[in-house]
Amino acid sequence: MTDMNSFDAESFCAALATRRIGRPTRFYERVGSTNDLAHAAARAGAAEGLVIVADEQTAGRGRLDRRWWAPPGAALLLSLLLRPDLPAERAGQLSMCLGLAAAEAIEQTTGLHIGLKWPNDLVYAGRKLGGLLAEAEFAGAQVQYAILGLGLNVNLDFDAPAVLAAAGLDDLRGRAASLAMLLGRPVDRIGLLAALLAAFEARYDRLLAGESPHLAWAARLDTLGQRVRVALRGGAHIGVATGVTPGGGLILADDDGAEHVVWAGDVAALRPAGPDNDA
Ligand code: BTN
Repeated sequence: MTDMNSFDAESFCAALATRRIGRPTRFYERVGSTNDLAHAAARAGAAEGLVIVADEQTAGRGRLDRRWWAPPGAALLLSLLLRPDLPAERAGQLSMCLGLAAAEAIEQTTGLHIGLKWPNDLVYAGRKLGGLLAEAEFAGAQVQYAILGLGLNVNLDFDAPAVLAAAGLDDLRGRAASLAMLLGRPVDRIGLLAALLAAFEARYDRLLAGESPHLAWAARLDTLGQRVRVALRGGAHIGVATGVTPGGGLILADDDGAEHVVWAGDVAALRPAGPDNDA
């Protein structure tokens, strides 16, 4: 783990307009996983609001035990430590706040309208721009602490063959995108990070005041209204995604009209049900 990096901490301090989120923010050049560092800090007693940012991760983790890769200096890779007074069943609302805040900050700094894909992806025109990895420790029925990790593709070109081949990730071609690819210009990561933390703090304050973000989150979810297949460890549910629960479960109406709630998995859009369209 090293603490030289290409982020300009002085510009960041000047841009940061939060009261407690991102105070402090620690920048590193290379770490294993920012989520792992944030867990270690939490176990050592670090206060809520700590943000860990890295230029590069050597063991970045994604959902469902996948790895998360980004070339050095090209992405926003961060983890945020929270210690909310929150019942366990509302823990899922923390990642809703971060997904919404990321979309709002991107819109504010670049003008791009970003969608969310259930449960934790940032998407644009069907391509994945980033993802969230939310992890929590519980004390009985309460959240003890939560780590919200975000990987956002900012200044990298997923359509350049060498980029993905070098990482052994050719299957991402055509499925992933970055902000720079969409805008045709590089994006200032510092300004985006400061906007993201401010947007998150506003959402988080409202959550702590008792407001649920699930309806705003649902309104951003591209997944809703689609006929989808949700796959998890060998099994799959198929149905029309009709809504979300306050805790973040996806409500699926199956072909018989029965409703099911799914809590995890990979979503693939299917064509609408019809005589020739059986999944
Ligand atoms: C996913 O889409 O599967 C979630 C990806 C989350 C990646 C971020 S990068 C920063 C933080 N540290 C990690 O090890 N993972 C998250």
